[in-house]
Amino acid sequence: MNLQKKVVWITGASSGIGEALAYEFNKKGTLLILSARRIDELERVKNGCIDHEESVKILPLDLEDSDAIPGKVQEAVELFGSVDMLINNGGISQRAYAADATMGTIRKVMEVNFFGTVGLTKAVLPHMIEQKSGHIVVVSSVMGKFGTQYRSAYAASKHALHGWFDSLRQEVYGHQILVTLVCPGYVKTNVTINALTADGQKFDKMGEGQKKAMSPEIFARKLLPKLAKQKEEVYIGGMEVAAVYLKRWFPGLLNKLLRRMKVT
Ligand SMILES: NC(=O)c1ccc[n+]([C@@H]2O[C@H](COP(=O)([O-])OP(=O)(O)OC[C@H]3O[C@@H](n4cnc5c(N)ncnc54)[C@H](OP(=O)(O)O)[C@@H]3O)[C@@H](O)[C@H]2O)c1
Repeated sequence: MNLQKKVVWITGASSGIGEALAYEFNKKGTLLILSARRIDELERVKNGCIDHEESVKILPLDLEDSDAIPGKVQEAVELFGSVDMLINNGGISQRAYAADATMGTIRKVMEVNFFGTVGLTKAVLPHMIEQKSGHIVVVSSVMGKFGTQYRSAYAASKHALHGWFDSLRQEVYGHQILVTLVCPGYVKTNVTINALTADGQKFDKMGEGQKKAMSPEIFARKLLPKLAKQKEEVYIGGMEVAAVYLKRWFPGLLNKLLRRMKVT
C-alpha cells in the first residue's frame, strides 16, 4: 500500500503510540488528521512532523462526547476531501481491583475505549462505503485477548472491541473496507500514568512493565509494514505476546502463571 497522499486520521495523537504513528506516517508523505482532547499537545505533535505546513491538520475531539462525533467526522472529511484510514488509538487504562473500582470508573473506561471507538467508526463508515474503500485500524491490546489482575474494565473494553470489529469486518468486506485489530504488549508511554484508579483518579505512576518496554517509535516502525500488508490482527510487544498463544492453546496454564505473577 502506497501511503503517500493517503489520508490517515489518528485518535490519541497527542502522546505515546498515536504521536509516534504521526511522525512515522509523516515521513512517508501521508496526509494526517490528528485528534485527541489537548489542543496544545496536538499542536506540539504537528510541529514535530517534518512536513507539517500542508499535510498535517489537527481536529480536537473527546471520545466521550458522542453527540459531537458526527460533526467531527464531517469536519475530518472536509479537511483533505476523504479519510482513507481511521486509526482508533485513543484510550485509557485502569489500575484497580475489580472489587474496588466504582461503576463510574468502569463505565468511563468502556465509554472512551469501546463506545467512543465504535461511535467514531460508525460515523466514518458511510463515507468509506460511499468511496468504496477504507481501512479501519483499532489499537486494542494483548488485554483484548486475555485478562490480568488490576485491569478488569480495561480488559473488558478491549475484548469488546474484538467482538464488535470482528463482526464489522465480515459486514464491510464487500465494500472493500479492511479492519485491522492491533494488540500491543508493553509500550513505554504514559498509559499507566493516565490510567484510572478505583475512584477514577489518575494512577500517576509509570507501570513496571512500561518502564522497560519498547519505545513508541519502535512500535510505530513495526506497525506500519503490517498495516501495509493489510493484516487482520497484529501482535507487537515483548515476551507478554507469548501469553496470547498460551491463552489459545493452554488457557489453564496461562491462568496459573498469571495468578502467580506480580502484576502492577
Ligand atoms: N502503552 C502500552 O503499553 C499499551 C499497551 C496496549 C495497548 N495500548 C493502547 O494504546 C493506545 C494509546 O495509548 P498510549 O500507550 O499511547 O497511552 P497515552 O500516552 O496515555 O495516550 C493515550 C491517548 O488517548 C487520548 N485520549 C484519552 N482519553 C481520550 C478521550 N476521552 N478522547 C479523546 N482522546 C483521548 C489521549 O489524549 P488526550 O489526553 O489529549 O485526550 C492520548 O493521546 C490506547 O488505546 C491503549 O489502550 C497501550
